[in-house]
Amino acid sequence: MNTILEIIEKRRSIRKYQPTQIKDEELAAILEAGRSAPSGGNNQTSHFIVIQNASILQELKRLVSLEFEKMELKEGMYKSLQTSIKAAKKGGYDFFYNAPTLVIAANRKNYGNAIADCACALENMMLAASSLNIGSCWINQLHWLDDNEVIHKYMTELGLGDGETICGGLSLGYSAINELLPLHRTGNHITYIK
Ligand SMILES: Cc1cc2nc3c(=O)[nH]c(=O)nc-3n(C[C@H](O)[C@H](O)[C@H](O)COP(=O)(O)O)c2cc1C
Repeated sequence: MNTILEIIEKRRSIRKYQPTQIKDEELAAILEAGRSAPSGGNNQTSHFIVIQNASILQELKRLVSLEFEKMELKEGMYKSLQTSIKAAKKGGYDFFYNAPTLVIAANRKNYGNAIADCACALENMMLAASSLNIGSCWINQLHWLDDNEVIHKYMTELGLGDGETICGGLSLGYSAINELLPLHRTGNHITYIK
């Protein structure tokens, strides 16, 4: 198998991190992989906000937990969103697993490929991270709270542009767990027509 296929097979979502920060050159390589992703019409309008400041990460965690805590559970609600609300109501909800680095991927509101472009970039970053033995996990909570006034205001203070929407996020850090085995997929069907 070639290297890229091995990395795709090996990558897993990591939800427990060492407190040690990743090296600047590792972060730069991961971000460059994200910037190198394809984009619809070669628009290149994705915007990555990288947070490594511990007190800002803690404040974001506090605000996210408070905002989820206020939300009501509804029937038919997306299961992971329910999990976030329940965890926040219990207290101390840590949506990015205390990773030392959090990348937030944003793009232009009303741009039809906003999420697709950010997803390509985030996947590139996850694969780049895995190739450097750095753990990562897609973090979607800020996307869910994109319309939330408190979170939007704080994100604007952190550099979210006027007219930008949060499409997703990524936790990054050295893994604090033993290497996970590749996850066997049972879904994602293929129809061959030869
Ligand atoms: C669009 C998307 C959103 C996700 N959101 C979250 C999230 O908010 N928190 C989380 O822990 N994992 C999140 N994940 C990770 C998935 O749970 C994970 O990819 C899946 O369980 C398969 O496991 P693996 O990544 O280890 O192969 C997300 C993944 C994707 C693609």
